[in-house]
Amino acid sequence: MITIQNLICDFPDGDGKKLRALSVPSFSLKEGGMAVITGPSGSGKTTFLHCLSGLLTPSCGDIRIGDVHLSDLSPAQRCGFRAAKVGYVFQKPLLLSFLTVKENILLSASLAGRRPEDREISDLLSRVGLEGLEDRKGDWLSGGQQQRVSFLRAVIRKPSLLLADEPTAALDEENGMRLMDMMLDYQKEAGCFLLCATHDKRVMDRFPVRYDVQKGAFL
Ligand SMILES: Nc1ncnc2c1ncn2[C@@H]1O[C@H](COP(=O)(O)OP(=O)(O)O)[C@@H](O)[C@H]1O
Ligand SMILES: [Mg+2]
Repeated sequence: MITIQNLICDFPDGDGKKLRALSVPSFSLKEGGMAVITGPSGSGKTTFLHCLSGLLTPSCGDIRIGDVHLSDLSPAQRCGFRAAKVGYVFQKPLLLSFLTVKENILLSASLAGRRPEDREISDLLSRVGLEGLEDRKGDWLSGGQQQRVSFLRAVIRKPSLLLADEPTAALDEENGMRLMDMMLDYQKEAGCFLLCATHDKRVMDRFPVRYDVQKGAFL
C-alpha cells in the first residue's frame, strides 16, 4: 500500500520567500494499484513523482510505500530504495546517446542488481516493436522509439513502483497509445504500483483512479 499524509514541498522563490510547489493532504493506493496524477502545468505533478521516487526530500509529510517509510531513510538508503524498487519513465527519454540501446537498458538493470540475458533484452525489444535495434545508438532513434527504450530501461529493473511523467507528451497519438498499452500490460503482469502524471484525456481515461494535485484530492 502507498499512504501519504500532509505532504508539502516548498522551493525558495529567489526573493527569500517560499513557493509552495506541492500540497498533498492525503493520498493512498492499495497494493498493486494504479492512478493518474493530474492537474494543470505547474501544479506539482513532477514534484509529486520526484517525492515518491525518493529523488526529492519533501519539506514535510509522510510517505510510506509498502513497508518503506521514505522520511526515515538516509540519502544513501534512498538511493538504494530507488535502485531496487523504482522504475522512472521521465518526460523526456534521456537516453545516454553514447551508449547503444542495449547498453542503456543493461546499465539501468545493473543499478538494480540485475544481469539480464541477451534473450530477455531482445524479447523486450520485440514486444515494443524495436526488434533488432540492440546496437543502435540512442540518438539514432526517433522520439517515439527513444521513449519506448526509456520505458524498457525502467521495466528491466522489475520495479515494484513504476512512475511515468507525461510519457505521451512528446508522442503522436498512435505511439502514445501504444506506449500506454505496454505500460498497462506491464503493470497487470507485474502487479506493481503505477503512477502516471498526465493531463492527456486519453491517458486519464485508461486509469480507474485520478488524483488532482492542484485540488489535493481524488476526482
Ligand atoms: N527545483 C525547483 N526550484 C524551484 N521551483 C521549482 C522547482 N521545481 C519545480 N518548481 C516549481 O514548482 C511548481 C510545480 O512544478 P512541477 O512539479 O514541475 O509542475 P508540473 O509537473 O505539474 O508541471 C512550479 O511552480 C515550478 O515552477
Ligand atoms: Mg511536470
